[in-house]
Amino acid sequence: MSAILSLEDIVKVYRSHGSEVRAVDGVSFDIEEGTTFGLVGESGSGKSTIARCALRLIEPTSGTSRIDGEDIGGMPRTGLRRLRARTGMVFQNPVAALNPRMSIRDSIAEPLRTHTRLGRRAVGSRVDELLDEVGLAASHAGRLPHQLSGGQCQRVGIARALATRPRLLVLDEPTSALDVSVQAQVLNLLQQLRREHRLSYLLISHDLDVVRYMSDTAGVMRGGVLVEAGPATEVLVEPRHEYTQRLLAAMPQAPGAGPPDPPRTPTRDPNEKSLLP
Ligand SMILES: Nc1ncnc2c1ncn2[C@@H]1O[C@H](COP(=O)(O)OP(=O)(O)OP(=O)(O)O)[C@@H](O)[C@H]1O
Ligand SMILES: [Mg+2]
Repeated sequence: MSAILSLEDIVKVYRSHGSEVRAVDGVSFDIEEGTTFGLVGESGSGKSTIARCALRLIEPTSGTSRIDGEDIGGMPRTGLRRLRARTGMVFQNPVAALNPRMSIRDSIAEPLRTHTRLGRRAVGSRVDELLDEVGLAASHAGRLPHQLSGGQCQRVGIARALATRPRLLVLDEPTSALDVSVQAQVLNLLQQLRREHRLSYLLISHDLDVVRYMSDTAGVMRGGVLVEAGPATEVLVEPRHEYTQRLLAAMPQAPGAGPPDPPRTPTRDPNEKSLLP
């Protein structure tokens, strides 16, 4: 196996109005191809900052991020454009992540128009394919974001992230804003897509059950430092570090409750165009 993402000693210091926040302080970890790395930690511990540094959406103060072996730090603009096409990001608030005045079809087409040279027809058929892959019906394509449910909007967000056939997705609290029943559907969809396309995920979530269900490996952040990392079953079920034990105890789901139940609702019935009304 080889690492799709390799972070080495990432440091990020935010400076504003003369004050400094050391948001990430020397974090290193690898994500092996085809696996999911779950990142947990209390609010403000630096999880989103790591995700943004990993894809160079913001510049780290120091440290190296390698995607598929390539150091993205010194990349020129053209290299970064290519990088954007090879990676994708799914955000917490699916409705806010979409342009309210853009149809679903145009929202999904946007990354294709920006990052590929596909012609109009090819973009159109790729959009149809993506709608189907994320379990949306063709009839959703003409709608605006406010005419869809939160879960449907997140499916659009996933379609956008997948549009350019990336190999690594960063999922920053992808289900936190959704109803519990819809969460399970979206998580199942993400699992299914990961298997089908051999994707790798960096998953950030406050919900321990979500991280346990999804992750092969996991890490625990505290105050900008990765205090513990390893196989998810060890880190999230029998943590060695006292801090992790306390964090887990303070999280909504108590530790030691055994492995989580798989989500109850199937993602997609192959005989149906869409699960959602
Ligand atoms: N643009 C910024 N300018 C200054 N400080 C920032 C900026 N973005 C984040 N921070 C600070 O950096 C620290 C880490 O923030 P970050 O958003 O990475 O945390 P997080 O673990 O994702 O939290 P949450 O779980 O609430 O999303 C926090 O103290 C935050 O206030
Ligand atoms: Mg965050």
